[in-house]
Amino acid sequence: MSGERDPGTSPPALAAPAQAALIQAALGARDQAYAPYSHFSVGAAVMARDGRIFAGVNVENASYPLTVCAERNAIAAAVLAGARELVAVAVATAVSPPSAPCGGCRQVIAEFARETTILLVNPEGERVETTLGELLPRAFRGEELAP
Ligand code: THU
Repeated sequence: MSGERDPGTSPPALAAPAQAALIQAALGARDQAYAPYSHFSVGAAVMARDGRIFAGVNVENASYPLTVCAERNAIAAAVLAGARELVAVAVATAVSPPSAPCGGCRQVIAEFARETTILLVNPEGERVETTLGELLPRAFRGEELAP
């Protein structure tokens, strides 16, 4: 997924310390995941345009469809804090290769992101770098809705 990119659509490179902080936030959050049914713990962290980082975990429910993914909980925290533009997202799982966000979360990320970098990581140190454009080409966006 991290192959050749069209420089015209690549997101601006994230500085190494910022990338490391985002990854650490996602990995650290993952320890707090509430996943008693699937036992699939996910941590996510999003970086706002101003550099602030917001984390989230998956929160499952005995009524399974009420589960909320880690990415969406991280985005909810960002929105609550006033962030509206995300420049990078990290998703931490314990599988190899590290999981990518589900389709629903890709759409929710697209609400607040363009060619945003998405880092897929696991505690073993695997890192896969992709972009929202790769994961969700031709995203449906709010500007397509009638005014
Ligand atoms: N999950 C996430 O948190 N993010 C994703 O992008 C994919 C799936 C969670 C939901 C559920 O708690 C568990 O992983 C298994 O699907």
